[in-house]
Amino acid sequence: GSLNASASGIGTTISTEKESVDLDWDSLGFGLVHTDYMYTMKCSRGESFCEGELVPFGNIEISPSAGVLNYGQGLFEGLKAYRKADGNILLFRPQENGTRMMMGAERMCMPSPSVAQFVEAVKATVLANERWIPPPGKGSLYIRPLLMGSGSVLGLAPAPEYTFLIYVSPVGNYFKEGLSPINLIVETEMHRATPGGTGGVKTIGNYAAVLKAQSAAKAKGYSDVLYLDSVHKKYLEEVSSCNVFVVKGNIISTPAIKGTILPGITRKSIIDVALTQGFQVEEKAVTVDELLDADEVFCTGTAVVVSPVGSITYLGKSVSYGSSGVGLVSQQLYTALTQLQMGLTEDKMGWVVE
Ligand code: COI
Repeated sequence: GSLNASASGIGTTISTEKESVDLDWDSLGFGLVHTDYMYTMKCSRGESFCEGELVPFGNIEISPSAGVLNYGQGLFEGLKAYRKADGNILLFRPQENGTRMMMGAERMCMPSPSVAQFVEAVKATVLANERWIPPPGKGSLYIRPLLMGSGSVLGLAPAPEYTFLIYVSPVGNYFKEGLSPINLIVETEMHRATPGGTGGVKTIGNYAAVLKAQSAAKAKGYSDVLYLDSVHKKYLEEVSSCNVFVVKGNIISTPAIKGTILPGITRKSIIDVALTQGFQVEEKAVTVDELLDADEVFCTGTAVVVSPVGSITYLGKSVSYGSSGVGLVSQQLYTALTQLQMGLTEDKMGWVVE
């Protein structure tokens, strides 16, 4: 069949494959599965993005002196599409990702697509790859928008040309633990971000910066690393790929956004969901002591959704949460959020986009 994407302002007619894909939907993890199409759009420095196109998924050609390769001028986003039992396809707050990309682009001296262009491009890319969206309850289609300095530079300066690209991949659970609690270690030597730096935007370098501590933690059997602030070394920041929350009685606390922490869309959504469920939510400086004294700890992110934490190790000492299994608050918030994202409960907040 064919899909005329020009209805969404994208002047490309592509043929959508009708055949269903040969994938074992029950064993999806978080790894790249090649799909049919990706979206690309280019613009020069000082100009605005105007027209993009869907092209077959594949490698891209880029100058060895591209700004992104030499000086890290790049941003990424992450969001998911879910298939509903009635056949509808749902996105969760895609405008928020578009807005965050614009804010990050400003910090990284890049032009950005408008929020409307971002959302239309996401919709077109998802529709073009519709057959790769897992069946209801089997996972989601992870959408990865990129923005990069693709033009050549040699001296340090913003690149002369930029590329916005979106690719997608069907995914299941992020951590190999699945929905079971993960074990984190608090990193006391290396830091993810510094005040005045780029920790608050989704720039690619933030993620390269965590690989060393993350690899060391994984080699010791931990699932991931929890970072502390680089000034006082006692306040929680975030985990390599997600935000963190601590629960004590009816109070749920999470580190406040102050430029060094990624402003997660799942983070923000969980705060609102928790408030509507009667919890008291505090965005503040959260100390390691509060973490170790918590009733429950969980992480949030697009990729990780709501992941319960089973134990924290800090300076050689470990603390476990709950007797075993998933804490009640984590479970309750996970269920509320995912039911909403999958279109199984009424969307009172207006967060879901068909
Ligand atoms: C996401 O949750 O979408 C992210 O961007 C985190 C990434 C490291 C998987």
